[in-house]
Amino acid sequence: MSQNITVLGLESSCDDTAAAVVRRKDGTDAEVLSSIVWGQEGLHAAFGGVVPEIAARAHAERLDLCVEQALEQAGLTLTDVDAIAVTAGPGLIGGVISGVMCAKGLSIGSGKPLVGVNHLAGHALTPRMTDGVEYPYLMLLVSGGHCQFLGVHGPDQFTRMGGTIDDAPGEAFDKTAKLLGLGYPGGPLIEEEAKKGDPKRFRFPRPLLDRPDLDMSFSGLKTALRRARDTLIAEKGGLTVQDRADLCASFQQAVADTLAEKTRRACVAFGKPVETPVLAVAGGVAANSLIRSALQDVAANEGFQFLAPPLKYCTDNGAMIAWAGLERFAGGERDDLTLSARPRWPLDKAAAPMLGSGKKGAKA
Ligand code: KG4
Ligand code: ZN
Repeated sequence: MSQNITVLGLESSCDDTAAAVVRRKDGTDAEVLSSIVWGQEGLHAAFGGVVPEIAARAHAERLDLCVEQALEQAGLTLTDVDAIAVTAGPGLIGGVISGVMCAKGLSIGSGKPLVGVNHLAGHALTPRMTDGVEYPYLMLLVSGGHCQFLGVHGPDQFTRMGGTIDDAPGEAFDKTAKLLGLGYPGGPLIEEEAKKGDPKRFRFPRPLLDRPDLDMSFSGLKTALRRARDTLIAEKGGLTVQDRADLCASFQQAVADTLAEKTRRACVAFGKPVETPVLAVAGGVAANSLIRSALQDVAANEGFQFLAPPLKYCTDNGAMIAWAGLERFAGGERDDLTLSARPRWPLDKAAAPMLGSGKKGAKA
């Protein structure tokens, strides 16, 4: 298609209120004209995790201003965009409804077409927006709400090769941080503590490595850490600074080892449809240096090109939704006012549903 397409994208499925404008020029490169993300960490910090009702209200209050800013920063008005894309699931339902209702209002007011986007597709298609990666490629999504391996074959063609059967890794980091009296979000705080700790002091489980498939489990790891913490407290009456650092380092190592081995197997299972396939990562946990370098090593050993989009597009943002909407729109797809918000929406329609639902929302 040789024309410019410009899409406004809205995201509100978890704890980030986001809007962005993305343009694709002449069917080739993407340009992010603006990307506004208003995090809600401050609203949820005291609870050690996202409180769905608080999140939904905050989204409803801020979305229209966020859109206004995104358009302003892009130097455009609604009349200049070709379509309005919005996360229609999966996620915390109150937040998703806020986004979908806002997008419908904008669509009615402007007469611009509406395109519903699967949040996971937004993450999964990001490497195409940031690096122009060609289909097919392998994607590991590791965030506070998601953890899965995806074969990405087209804008609406995904194969879920495996994923967590309980907590997502980011959720495990957050819960562990809470157990150790650290703040929220837990990932960066645990990473910081772990720098001073001994990763070998506690031998935490590497769950499901005995199973040949690509499924993972992270909730047992958090329980093992709680036991180790309680034993130390029972023995010594409390935790020393070194104990805490060692617990963090050992926990982080267990997550990194588990993700690395399952990723190695995912590379083998994905095979070599092209000479050097891409292994891409997305999600906040991909910010962790130990995990990132473990995945980089796996990719190098398996003959894959490792790709981690800039962090601002790895974590929740509106640009990835605008881009995923743009790909759908360019393929002739549209939604109408019957578009509904879906708490659960597996990307791979053929895959068996995953078990459980984390505190940060439905996983797939
Ligand atoms: O992708 P994201 O911003 O939001 C969603 O969950 O969709 O990811 C946030 C998660 C949180 O659970 C946070 O603790 C984790 O990513 N995280 C990290 C690090 N930075 C953020 N986990 C481990 N190490 C980090 N450096
Ligand atoms: Zn996400």
